[in-house]
Amino acid sequence: MVFPEYRPRRLRRNETFRSLIRETQISASQLIYPLFVMPGKNKREEIPSMPGVFRLSIDQLKNEAEECLQLGVQSVILFGLPEKKDAVGSGAHAKDGIIQRAIKELKNKAPEMMVTTDVCLCEYTDHGHCGCLIGNTVDNDATLEILAKTALSHAQAGADMVAPSDMMDGRVAEIRAALDENNFDMIPIMSYAVKYASAFYGPFRDAANCAPQFGDRRSYQMDPANSREAMREATLDVDEGADILMVKPAVAYLDIISRLRDEFDLPIAAYHVSGEYAMIKAAAERGWIDGEQVMAETLLSIKRAGADIILTYFAKDMARYLRNKG
Ligand code: PBG
Repeated sequence: MVFPEYRPRRLRRNETFRSLIRETQISASQLIYPLFVMPGKNKREEIPSMPGVFRLSIDQLKNEAEECLQLGVQSVILFGLPEKKDAVGSGAHAKDGIIQRAIKELKNKAPEMMVTTDVCLCEYTDHGHCGCLIGNTVDNDATLEILAKTALSHAQAGADMVAPSDMMDGRVAEIRAALDENNFDMIPIMSYAVKYASAFYGPFRDAANCAPQFGDRRSYQMDPANSREAMREATLDVDEGADILMVKPAVAYLDIISRLRDEFDLPIAAYHVSGEYAMIKAAAERGWIDGEQVMAETLLSIKRAGADIILTYFAKDMARYLRNKG
């Protein structure tokens, strides 16, 4: 008998064999593309720290959505840049707020596009925190009411799903109740169940102009050192009625995605965040890595760890890549 008896290389011999036994696949239908909506007309501002990602006025947003659909990306998540901010983030639930208008116009133009909204106050508060304040701390329970109003206003404008990212305790239950009481019991909640206080959000805070004006978010977002606590956070959200559990960021937290996958049977989403995107773009621009290959390998690793859904600024690029290589 020839040694070694078992030769893994037999099944790696050519692409036909490799694709025959491939364990993980990515499909464009499981990617969610984040979009930043700004006031004005015909506006398309590239975000300096996120090459290829733009703040868009609503008319431009509609074109972007069409492009996504053509590529097979059927889902977007919207972030709003309001005209005005205040201490309690009123713009987040204004009837004619930037997001509410964007949802309406988007669903009008492209009803088949699935529109998810980020539910949080940080883009709408003048202090940049994710809730309203008492002194210098975020008031958990007063914030819940504003978040529920915000989620409801998104559903009323036509959103298909809401995604609370604020990390207040009890917000999933509060949002679920508000939706149910108003006949939106069929609108699912994708909860940012496990969201870490991460430096990888840096470019996003430039994009959405929502950096906290004092302090940081460590009194509500999770400590990056904790993994057991992630299970507790996810359990709470499941009990409160979450339909999809999200982990954020993704690559530095693949172990958390994998643990959630093992312990929960809900769909798992992972957010490949702004800083993770920016690092790949920056290194690729310098010619230090092959950006396209690193993108594909990175998103694959998130899927392999156990995510069903990936929120990523690479959604369009990945869909193009899958079309050409797949
Ligand atoms: C709002 C929110 C943030 C992100 C998504 N929703 C910023 C933050 O929590 O500071 C980050 C997304 C990214 O970095 O791509 N709270």
